[in-house]
Amino acid sequence: MSSPVKLPYFDALLNLLDQGHPALEQAFGRHVHWGYWPEPELADGSPEDFALAAERLTERVYTAAGVHGGQRILDAGCGFGGTVASLNGRFRNIDLSGLNIDRRQLRRAEQRVSAEPGSVLNWIQADACTLPFANRSFDTVLAVECIFHFPSRKRFFEEAYRVLKPGGRLALSDFVPTRLLRPAMSFASRWPASAGFYGRCKFHNTLRDYRRLAEETGFIVRHEQDITSNTLPTYDFVRKLAKDMNVKTVSAIIETLFAEWASRLGLLRYLVLAFEKPG
Ligand SMILES: C[S@@+](CC[C@H](N)C(=O)[O-])C[C@H]1O[C@@H](n2cnc3c(N)ncnc32)[C@H](O)[C@@H]1O
Repeated sequence: MSSPVKLPYFDALLNLLDQGHPALEQAFGRHVHWGYWPEPELADGSPEDFALAAERLTERVYTAAGVHGGQRILDAGCGFGGTVASLNGRFRNIDLSGLNIDRRQLRRAEQRVSAEPGSVLNWIQADACTLPFANRSFDTVLAVECIFHFPSRKRFFEEAYRVLKPGGRLALSDFVPTRLLRPAMSFASRWPASAGFYGRCKFHNTLRDYRRLAEETGFIVRHEQDITSNTLPTYDFVRKLAKDMNVKTVSAIIETLFAEWASRLGLLRYLVLAFEKPG
């Protein structure tokens, strides 16, 4: 079984996790995204430290959405279900749907996360741009570090707007270029051959594009936060982990180095954003 979209990093991850690597399991067995360190200089490079940082990043996204118990929440592009697991552990009487295009990831999520008493979990295989849900059926829609894979940000925003109840929020994290970097990223995102280890990634949407997209789709911008500097310890950790695991894929090394240096130079920012459907 493979994913309907080409995501070589998930093929590699699933394969290595199946072989049983404790450090990889700890770092990427639950969340598959960068970490958040309130004090980046204190990052110690251990898998335990990275796992805590990854959990914090998820919490920042759902906190921006103002999640609370009793809500119905959709996590689009849910990976191995880390965000759903975090919400399930933290809030009571919650109805959670994890949606992913890749059935293999959903199977892993289903095997590892079970609903707390009084809460409900659902795992759905679908494209985030064609949501199989009724209008006005969710309080919150989340998309943690995955919107750049979706076929269209606009289509996803329209779908999130449709399934949200009035007053509901969409919160996400994304790599957002400055205007200086945008032309290069725009070119790369249209060039199919640019899809490497991380698959097709469209990192061309600037903050101004997000504000425009919100306006076009009917959302109000509620939260904009640049956490780039808090994510930077991720790169040393990923490099060391790849070395320990003997991952030598050239595109993985180049793409990760590019993201690191574009981020260190302030050209690519890691943002947490939240949008509200007017009540
Ligand atoms: C970097 S991972 C993030 C996973 C998860 N949100 C997390 O934070 O752990 C990107 C995710 O987007 C999913 N994805 C890619 N294209 C998708 C699509 N069109 N619809 C739904 N999910 C998609 C991938 O399968 C993968 O799980």
